[in-house]
Amino acid sequence: MAKTPLFIAFEGIDGSGKSTQAKLLAAQFQREGFPIYETFEPTKSDIGTIIRHILQGKRQADERTIAALFAADRLDHILNADNGILKQLELGLHVISDRYYFSSYAYHSVHMDMDWVIQTNAQSANSLRPHATIYIDVHPQTCMERIRQNRDSTELYETLDNLNRVRDNYEQAFLTLENVENVIRIDGNRSVEVVAADVWHAVQNLLK
Ligand code: ADP
Ligand code: TYD
Repeated sequence: MAKTPLFIAFEGIDGSGKSTQAKLLAAQFQREGFPIYETFEPTKSDIGTIIRHILQGKRQADERTIAALFAADRLDHILNADNGILKQLELGLHVISDRYYFSSYAYHSVHMDMDWVIQTNAQSANSLRPHATIYIDVHPQTCMERIRQNRDSTELYETLDNLNRVRDNYEQAFLTLENVENVIRIDGNRSVEVVAADVWHAVQNLLK
């Protein structure tokens, strides 16, 4: 068993199946008897709620404002004294988050310099770097089909053109930060079960 609790972040473009995999990994942890805290971004906080409204088109904001809101939401996600991720780790729980700062690097650098986005999230990266970022890589066309099949409406960033750009940005961010981040890449174009088995195999190595 790992000596210190793990913090694992799932990443991928919309429709990649990362929420499905985050939940399956949490269930696997529970079956193995590991205490676990599941969380996600944008969060349920007041800031996260404003972000959701923007994503759903209920209110408008400049892309720079959106990027800053995500950075603020993330800091509260990490540092909140009652239920923040650092608090959960301190209590001895493993933490799995559906999205973390690589989402900001990938989504907001469609609209601005990636360096700016990385700098804006520096307090988060300095406070808490994931033991592993699990990147579920899926063709954008497949993601769009999954989104259309399973939902009546789409959100702000869910177009094929944008998802192609976001995917390229993930690649660029992984390359830029390869010396400081532990990124585990998983081919998410396969069945849910096969992907989950690969995720669990990778995580078992972290638990050793
Ligand atoms: P994300 O969190 O990346 O947007 P979800 O986990 O919500 O993705 O999955 C998006 C949709 O695709 C859901 O309806 C889900 O059931 C389906 N899905 C997830 N993983 C797969 C997979 N490996 N193959 C086919 N469909 C999948
Ligand atoms: P999410 O609810 O995970 O959407 P999905 O399950 O469809 O992948 O994330 C909502 C949207 O927020 C998604 O389009 C990605 C975007 N996002 C950012 O633009 N920046 C961020 O920092 C984060 C965490 C998410």
